[in-house]
Amino acid sequence: MAGRPIVVSFEVTDSCTCYCKHCDHGGPRDDSQNLKPADYRRYMEALRPCVVQVSGGEPLMRDDLVEVITNIKTGLPYTILVSNWSLMTVEKYVALRKAGIDQFSVSLDFPDERHDVFRRHPGLYEHLSRVVPRCAALGHDDIVLNSCITSENLETVNAMADQARQWRVNICYSAYSARRTGCQDYLLRSPDQLARLNAELDRVESRRDPTNWVVNSKTTLDATRRYFENGGTPGCTAGWRFLVVTSDGWLQPCSMQFRRYRLEERERMVEEFSRNNTCDECYVSIRSYVDKNFPTLLWENVSGYFSFQGRGERPGQGKPSQG
Ligand SMILES: C[S@@+](CC[C@H](N)C(=O)[O-])C[C@H]1O[C@@H](n2cnc3c(N)ncnc32)[C@H](O)[C@@H]1O
Ligand code: SF4
Ligand code: SF4
Repeated sequence: MAGRPIVVSFEVTDSCTCYCKHCDHGGPRDDSQNLKPADYRRYMEALRPCVVQVSGGEPLMRDDLVEVITNIKTGLPYTILVSNWSLMTVEKYVALRKAGIDQFSVSLDFPDERHDVFRRHPGLYEHLSRVVPRCAALGHDDIVLNSCITSENLETVNAMADQARQWRVNICYSAYSARRTGCQDYLLRSPDQLARLNAELDRVESRRDPTNWVVNSKTTLDATRRYFENGGTPGCTAGWRFLVVTSDGWLQPCSMQFRRYRLEERERMVEEFSRNNTCDECYVSIRSYVDKNFPTLLWENVSGYFSFQGRGERPGQGKPSQG
């Protein structure tokens, strides 16, 4: 495994339907240079990742997304669609599953209309309230709410878990990084904020059950606490164990480091960037996947999921314990 990345995130467009307060994307961008669906084969053959994230911008803005996924699935990577779901319908969900999406990661920042305000997208929460439960009712147990913890939504960490329960889906937490926008306001730094984070995550821990609806392992949530407490997480392997492919086909170490390399120059990226990288400014999910040895990664993110599917049990029933 040493020579290739474990996780590749394809940012299939830079355009977005939202203008989130915590993000540097937002609104329309020039999509004329986007990779074409067939181009993704070349990247998959060269990089051969175990896990693929399809992200953006907002990936559902691409009309040819099903074709993109079909080309990515020429190998057998575990494939996660990271999306705000503003454009999701039950029909699209079914088509994307058929094309090969294994997990749908749906961003949720608040369990009510504050989500619309934070994402600057009126009506988004109401849309999610309709479409998420309808897709979940199909019984595939492949939908995970993805909540990025910020100073704004800290008090709703468990309320978002309640929301996941109500919609019969799973929940996964990630941590705000100021690296995208430079805005420090959404970090958690005061003793009160850190105490609240610990209380919220203690409660999340107490709510785990054998269905594994809380997708983060305990080790990942503990690392998230330390990230906020210490103001960073060192030891990042961006460019080596994971990397980003931009919408126009460049390799980047991560979505928040803008050094660009051609596909053929991955080794140069590792030499120049990864070996010298001292950045510790995020603990987003792509890092939490690979900050683990490979058997743990497989257990937590891949094999557990497949073994659940293989047993054909009811949604939320029978995923093996994580962490
Ligand atoms: C960049 S978005 C791309 C996919 C899609 N547009 C969405 O929002 O899910 C992927 C994830 O990054 C998260 N994100 C955005 N800005 C962030 C930041 N500054 N720190 C940590 N996560 C962030 C979002 O909440 C989202 O869950
Ligand atoms: S977090 Fe996602 S939805 Fe929000 S602006 Fe960034 S890319 Fe768009
Ligand atoms: S810690 Fe790593 S993944 Fe996060 S912003 Fe820095 S280089 Fe990128």
